[in-house]
Amino acid sequence: MRTIIGDIIKNEDKEIELCGWVHARRDHGKLVFIDLRDRSGFVQVVFGPEVANASELRLEYVVKIQGVVKKRPASMVNDKIPTGAYEIGATGLEILNRVEEIPLPVDTDGYDINEETRLKYRYFDLRRERMKNNLIARHNIVRLIRNFLSERDFIEVETPNLSKSTPEGARDYLVPSRVQKGTFYALPQSPQQYKQLLMVGGLEKYFQIARCFRDEDTRGDRQPEFTQLDLEMSFVEQRDVMALNEELLIEIVTTLYPEKKIQEIPFPRITYKEAMEKYGTDRPDVRNDKEDKNLLAFCWVIDFPFFEKTDEGRWTFTHNPFSAPKSEFMADLMEEKNVQDILTTQYDVAMNGLEIAGGSIRNHQPEALKSVFHIMGYQDEEIIGKFGHMLKALGSGAPPHGGIAWGLDRFVSLLQNEPNIREVIAFPKTGDGRDLMMAAPSEVDKKQLDELGIEIKKQK
Ligand code: AMO
Repeated sequence: MRTIIGDIIKNEDKEIELCGWVHARRDHGKLVFIDLRDRSGFVQVVFGPEVANASELRLEYVVKIQGVVKKRPASMVNDKIPTGAYEIGATGLEILNRVEEIPLPVDTDGYDINEETRLKYRYFDLRRERMKNNLIARHNIVRLIRNFLSERDFIEVETPNLSKSTPEGARDYLVPSRVQKGTFYALPQSPQQYKQLLMVGGLEKYFQIARCFRDEDTRGDRQPEFTQLDLEMSFVEQRDVMALNEELLIEIVTTLYPEKKIQEIPFPRITYKEAMEKYGTDRPDVRNDKEDKNLLAFCWVIDFPFFEKTDEGRWTFTHNPFSAPKSEFMADLMEEKNVQDILTTQYDVAMNGLEIAGGSIRNHQPEALKSVFHIMGYQDEEIIGKFGHMLKALGSGAPPHGGIAWGLDRFVSLLQNEPNIREVIAFPKTGDGRDLMMAAPSEVDKKQLDELGIEIKKQK
């Protein structure tokens, strides 16, 4: 039975079996030393001449080792690692796998390695302590979220990825249908419509760790596919959704990042107007000490304008077409007047200058949603074609509801002090949307295209 390295401290003087990777190696002729690594940690293993194949070991080989856990002399204790007071006197060695070529070192933090190489050989890069810790931290955050919301009667529901376009302001990724030739699914930019439909379905409290897809220019804090903590609640007002999310954000920081300090609780609330006037941005960095990496300054940004003008001079929504206006502007929305002055119930969370979440109370009356689309210049026919299902659902006993979505990747990257979200995503894409490891996107067989009824225009 394999023992994990983290458990060797419980096995002094016992013969055990360890499995893992050769992290470091020193060949002193008669004696070969390696640092063995598994997910739980590192330990030094010493091979004497009786383990003949030890001289074959190279970095990153995968091995199974039998040996005795020995206490190291006090002068040799390595107090940098938890197992540093012990070493393994090896009695047996099986080489489980070899390495043809090491494309990049894995025993450093990796920041100075060309990122294309790191992404191409991500399976190597993930062996890095820092990357492992980021993925474990992400898991712990998601686990806390799931427990916190489950304890408060939320249920996690999966919503489809093969769907119809939901307008969130980016371009859709389209998936051609083979069965319904000439038609396309859109990958969801968010589960917005489905979560509202779940409220109409009487679920009352929903959440999902949801994958979202947006075909937009990738940046340090944006990926074409990314993860949201998405949630929606019925019979709530703005302050209820804000209070719940604030509590959850605080719980994550105090439980999992006790070394970090939240600058101000309750989180300050700043109107969009104040934010623009004082900070020149709607995601202000309100930290009073920007040098302190353990300082987290959250703030809510509220009172956003509902509409803004497009380049073509038409009205479009600033955040979400499904949002309700603040109640004092409902009459103007319904009469489609004073459009520039209508404020929405939208609330965003900014954290150290990054927008990490946003949500709103929704229009649960179909007529109000129709007005939003009228203001945007849609004709009735078009509204029915694109959003008839939502109007119908809202007219079928929809409860008042509202919700929010967090950019989980952004949140985790800030907590982990990482410079961009790729560092907390197992398999991220490059700035131009490529997966270098899988070589995606890629061309496909003519047969596949024929089945879909698709012909590729000649590239100029
Ligand atoms: P929104 O579009 O503001 O709202 O998205 C919510 C949060 O998701 C994060 N985010 C991203 N993270 C990484 N890569 C991207 N390309 C990307 N785009 C957005 C941001 C953002 O705050 N349906 C609404 C939510 C709601 O109203 O409930 C929505 O998706 O941190």
